[in-house]
Amino acid sequence: MAILVTGGAGYIGSHTCVELLNEGFEIIIVDNFSNSKPESLKRVSEITGKWFKTYNIDLLNAEGLEQVFSENEIEAVIHFAGLKAVGESVMVPLTYYQNNLIGTVILCETMKKYGVKNLVFSSSATVYGSTAEVPIPEETPLEAVNPYGRSKQMIEEILQDLYFSDQSWSISLLRYFNPIGAHASGRIGEDPNGIPNNLLPYISQVAVGKLQLLNIFGNDYQTKDGTGIRDYIHVVDLAIGHLRALEKVQSTQGVEAYNLGTGRGYSVLEMVQAFESASGESIPYTVIGRRPGDAAVCFADVSKARDQLGWIAAKGIDEMCKDTWKWQQSNPNGYRKETEVLNESN
Ligand code: NAD
Ligand code: WQD
Repeated sequence: MAILVTGGAGYIGSHTCVELLNEGFEIIIVDNFSNSKPESLKRVSEITGKWFKTYNIDLLNAEGLEQVFSENEIEAVIHFAGLKAVGESVMVPLTYYQNNLIGTVILCETMKKYGVKNLVFSSSATVYGSTAEVPIPEETPLEAVNPYGRSKQMIEEILQDLYFSDQSWSISLLRYFNPIGAHASGRIGEDPNGIPNNLLPYISQVAVGKLQLLNIFGNDYQTKDGTGIRDYIHVVDLAIGHLRALEKVQSTQGVEAYNLGTGRGYSVLEMVQAFESASGESIPYTVIGRRPGDAAVCFADVSKARDQLGWIAAKGIDEMCKDTWKWQQSNPNGYRKETEVLNESN
């Protein structure tokens, strides 16, 4: 029996595959490589010394997906596949709803057809919107403020409806806070396309000299130093959270949401300082206006995941920055080879 991992070649998926393989799970990957490279999976194999089947299939391709279920004995699905750029989702909302919503519906229809009813879903703290009171518990009303966030909120509702219609399903909705860091080997990590939207990838590209200056989005928030506060979590801790959620869905029925964060918030300026210490590089920055839709402060109440999944984040901010830096330094162009980068600039 195998665990199907959709989006397994991506940032969080690849780290979760390493932990699954290390714990002895058989895995099968479905990814269309729209935001990842096969190279990440090659490295997952190298890190673990294990081989697994990979299907280059789009979740919107129902026939292709059906083939995956008919060729393999699947006991549960961890569903990472989705588009995730907030700004892009505002520009092309239909693409986001098509990919994220319809992709998930097709996946669940296929699971249902093959009697596979254990699902771990990648949701996001973005479903809480920008004004939730901190620390944020799971029962906070959901108020996503952009198409990406609404696609996650809608999928959560679809999965609730699915469970309501058939109580033999077992579903975990994992609401990630701000995943950063990389595998300690420096072989896999986050590989954003173009200029990064998120803070840590941006800072690390400034540190390595690819970008000149960090733009800090506002220093007039009601926080200790005026900059935004977030709950950054090491991607390996997050990956391990999926293993605990998998155990949960395989041993119970129901649908439950869990926050995966550390429960601690750090400001943008604290992250700059932490990264400077970890890398020994200075991070020049300038303060510009607030980014629309940003919350001032966002961090998790982590008690539900601790009590019900037996999971707690173990790695601190220094390790997150150190591992991000190791990945960035040893892979300045992400998974792209030097020749690909040269071809792009010609
Ligand atoms: P990622 O883009 O690195 O990985 C997603 C993977 O899914 C990619 O490999 C992509 O090629 C694949 N994919 C996308 N659409 C697909 C489709 N229709 N068919 C098959 N494959 C498809 O993103 P990530 O950071 O690893 O995030 C994984 C999941 O976690 C996403 O659902 C994302 O929304 C969610 N999430 C991410 C963050 C974050 O900050 N990284 C935070 C909260 C939630
Ligand atoms: C963190 C802090 C910014 C960039 C996003 C998505 C969310 C989730 C995680 C998927 C904020 C500040 C940032 C920069 C800055 N993804 N910042 N300069 O906004 O908390 O969450 O990623 O589900 O949906 O919205 O993360 O890393 O973009 O920002 O000053 O160049 O850094 O204002 O305070 P965010 P982030």
